[in-house]
Amino acid sequence: MKVINIKDIKSNIGLEVKINGWIYNKRSSGRIVFLVLRDGTGFLQCVVEEDNVDVNTWNVVNCLSIESSVSLVGILVKHPKNEEIELKTKSILVIGSSKDYPITKKEHGPEFLFENRDLYLRSKTPWAILRIRDQIFRSITNFFYEEGFIRFDSPILQPTSCEDTTQLFEVKYYEEVMYLTQSGQLYLEAGIMSFGKAYDFGPVFRAEKSKTRNHLSEFWMMDAEMAFYDQEMNEDIQEKMVKRIIKDVLDNCELELNILERNTTILERCIKEQFIRIKHKEAKRICKEVLNIQNVVELDDMSTEEEIALGNYFQIPVFIEDYPMAVKSFYMKKYVDMDGVERAKNADLIAPEEGREIIGGSQREDDYEVLKAEIMKRNYPIEKYEWYLNIRKYGSVPHSGFGLGLERMVRWITGVHHIRETIPFPRTTIINKP
Ligand code: 4AD
Repeated sequence: MKVINIKDIKSNIGLEVKINGWIYNKRSSGRIVFLVLRDGTGFLQCVVEEDNVDVNTWNVVNCLSIESSVSLVGILVKHPKNEEIELKTKSILVIGSSKDYPITKKEHGPEFLFENRDLYLRSKTPWAILRIRDQIFRSITNFFYEEGFIRFDSPILQPTSCEDTTQLFEVKYYEEVMYLTQSGQLYLEAGIMSFGKAYDFGPVFRAEKSKTRNHLSEFWMMDAEMAFYDQEMNEDIQEKMVKRIIKDVLDNCELELNILERNTTILERCIKEQFIRIKHKEAKRICKEVLNIQNVVELDDMSTEEEIALGNYFQIPVFIEDYPMAVKSFYMKKYVDMDGVERAKNADLIAPEEGREIIGGSQREDDYEVLKAEIMKRNYPIEKYEWYLNIRKYGSVPHSGFGLGLERMVRWITGVHHIRETIPFPRTTIINKP
């Protein structure tokens, strides 16, 4: 007997096959029972007719409960009306029974679903979202391989802060204190002096108490770093990567996007059209004068409201460049603008459709003395940054890099409301179970 996966049903029409999986749904209509089988690769309607099976199989089908694991044997046929493929079931073997499965057809609130995340993972929506996540992960990996980057894994336990010091999780480490990483960037900067172009991909941690639908305490970050790249080249490669991710998802995840009822008009535009690049000063002007947002603070970070409004206004990703240095990290290359404001050579990439910031990147300060002065100005423990300063001591080069929050990217592409949907087991400001 040929054992197949649901994803391969098209090439097996007319054949008798065996499929292993779980009962996702069951509906009876007199002498016919309609089962929906899921096997991890897809969903398939399986029809069991009393007249076509033996008494034993009919009895098994009638007692079958949701999420029982089963082996079904039958013939794959095209539905006479809608051309969908279904299994004309001949026999059923129950592998593991499932009694009183807690997630039922009735609407459950998100609290209940996330308390039962281990089971909720089996439902269609998380299945579709996490498969798109997997596609995005693969696209990024392939992209960097093709662009000549090497994967360079940075440590999770770090003695210093990369971003804001108030966001650190402290860990007792033998007799010392260490911190869970916020980003591998500083280590990648050391790495590119050996490899030229490198990226990492792993979990990072932020202890900020943000309870928004865009913040996790543990998320997956992809940091990339490139020697001899200025900020313009940095934005070019980010744009190319984002376009590649979107194209791969549109090409390979049709079923998943359909399950999520994702309107892909803007995503399709994103592949064809150039992303917008505007200065922070101009972005603030648009927010105030064109979008009529109240309380726009010119020299501050972009607010949630401003990011969402700009995304809606442009309907395509927008790089917001040159933030005031006062709201950005110590390692960014800086300059003084015509108004005397110290600005960073950086850009945050804002996604449309309320995707908000998906990437943060900058050219890095490559001058030893300037960087040292910035670290001291911020009262960071200079002795802990000695190794990082060394990168500027021995053959310093202009270099740039960026960090993409995987879950932010998944949230935008899938169009889901809350970021906790985009990671298998989310960690937020509450203690999460499981
Ligand atoms: O802008 P951030 O803080 O930049 C860095 O950490 C740099 N060191 C990265 C680099 O240049 N290599 O974070 C980068 C991205 C953000 O654009 C966002 O997508 C994501 O990480 N991010 C979060 N995602 C989920 N939950 C949070 N709390 C996040 N904070 C940042």
